[in-house]
Amino acid sequence: MRDVRWVFDKIDQQKTWRSKCINLIASENTTSSWVEKAYLTDFMHRYAEGTPFNRYYQGTEIIDEIEDKANKFFARRLGVNRVDVRPVSGAIANMAVMRALTNPGDVIAGLSVSAGAHSSHTKGGVAGLLGLNQVQLAFNNNDFSINTELSSKIIRHAKPKLAIIGASLILFPLDIAGIKEACDDTKCTLIYDAAHVFGMIFSRKFQQPFKEGAEILTTSTHKSFPGPQGGLIAAQIDEDSEWSTVQRGVFPKILSNHHLHRIPAVLVTAYEMVKFGDAYSEQILKNAKALAEALHEEGLNVCAEDRGFTESHQVVIDVKDLGGGKLMAEALEKANIILNKNLLPWDKLSLVNLNNPSGLRLGVPEMTRFGMKQEEMGRIAELIARVTIKKETPAKVKSDVEAFRKDFQKVHYTWDTEWVE
Ligand SMILES: Cc1ncc(COP(=O)(O)O)c(C=O)c1O
Repeated sequence: MRDVRWVFDKIDQQKTWRSKCINLIASENTTSSWVEKAYLTDFMHRYAEGTPFNRYYQGTEIIDEIEDKANKFFARRLGVNRVDVRPVSGAIANMAVMRALTNPGDVIAGLSVSAGAHSSHTKGGVAGLLGLNQVQLAFNNNDFSINTELSSKIIRHAKPKLAIIGASLILFPLDIAGIKEACDDTKCTLIYDAAHVFGMIFSRKFQQPFKEGAEILTTSTHKSFPGPQGGLIAAQIDEDSEWSTVQRGVFPKILSNHHLHRIPAVLVTAYEMVKFGDAYSEQILKNAKALAEALHEEGLNVCAEDRGFTESHQVVIDVKDLGGGKLMAEALEKANIILNKNLLPWDKLSLVNLNNPSGLRLGVPEMTRFGMKQEEMGRIAELIARVTIKKETPAKVKSDVEAFRKDFQKVHYTWDTEWVE
């Protein structure tokens, strides 16, 4: 029993610790009690290979109804005719689409990791695993934008099977329309990876990839969209046979079981976001801007000043002169301020830089969900500056972080009523 108790103690420790932290990992969030309730259910024990109403197992009648409803609900909301909620994560959604649309040896186009691409878009990640070669699109490092003219030339020259844009480091909408013509002319499928910004896309507070020319969207369901960890694929595809090629990328090519308990939970999150997502996403955008401005006032080197720092949920700071991302992220962690070190567009991709890149990436979705507004962003900037610029001992700052976080424990932007059994 002692071993078991140890595990439960660790679970409690984690919960207590993170409730005392300022959590600024841009890819994290916290689900509401409604979503949590929808997640831990009998569906976590079940299998349902195949698509709704067309399964290889018995016992799937009820998940068929829920999954079908989820697919249709997301499709309607995104204004497209196809959705598949089976991918168990964003990287798996990318893998399924790439596996469906390419063969080993094919070329795909995407951003570099330093410019913000997720590893799954690259030779070092899923794309490489599938035997694909990535050509890199051109990026304007100074203003964090795609160089559309040069990127279009690269697409016309390399004729990739697909181009995947969207990023892990994303401060501004990306110019989908700008590379669309080159993609159309070369029959290159244009994919937008919305993993980070899906909450704001769902709430129509960020760029609308399908209106701008994307054919397929892949995403996680747990970052700015505050659902259970998972993924989905959405697409505007008229031919049933083309869509079934994409769906066969999910199963049988990549997945067997698709972790059914995510599906009711992601549908509850979608309903929650229809009701509360406007206010939530708007506050995320205001908070990110406020945090960037406050960090700048504190004397930190916040990136993209000329463009107003950010139009997303993220803020990026260059801390090379302060010792680099590793040193700063670790010092902040000791003060209970949790964020991640990050390559910046001008960092060369090398082991040294991966270990200690120039940047820090900060995201506001989780602290916004706990009720923080612009004023609190100013307070967070102050606490960050005390560790990074003023070099106060993290332990001293930590007690102030804990006192500050005490007042922000309730998940907002969800139904107020407690769950009734
Ligand atoms: C742009 C992008 N795509 C895909 C992923 C992978 O998502 P997941 O962690 O859900 O597999 C990430 C992860 O952060 C990401 O930033």
